[in-house]
Amino acid sequence: MAEPVFVCKVSDLPDPGKAVYEVDGRSIALFHVSGTFWAIDDICTHDGGPLAEGDLRGYTIVCPRHGAQFDIRTGHAKTMPAVKGTPAHEVLVRGDDVFIRLNEDA
Ligand code: FES
Repeated sequence: MAEPVFVCKVSDLPDPGKAVYEVDGRSIALFHVSGTFWAIDDICTHDGGPLAEGDLRGYTIVCPRHGAQFDIRTGHAKTMPAVKGTPAHEVLVRGDDVFIRLNEDA
């Protein structure tokens, strides 16, 4: 199981908010919505778009390239042109520190 990697302080990310962090060489989009953090790969499965640069609408992120929508809680693709989900990762909050544990199966 991957070790959790510290990425930021809770107070670093507004709610709602989003940011991108490098975790073990992987680009991860971190979201803060309604008091909870969520993390998915910052890669659209349609054509590699940078998801965190898109609009965040509730628990949905809209790819800035062609508009595919993904659920930030699961990485599931909700609309075309993406048909495959992007991997989701575990987020741990310890006090004011936020950690990401990569999903090694993804
Ligand atoms: S790259 Fe994301 S919708 Fe095309």
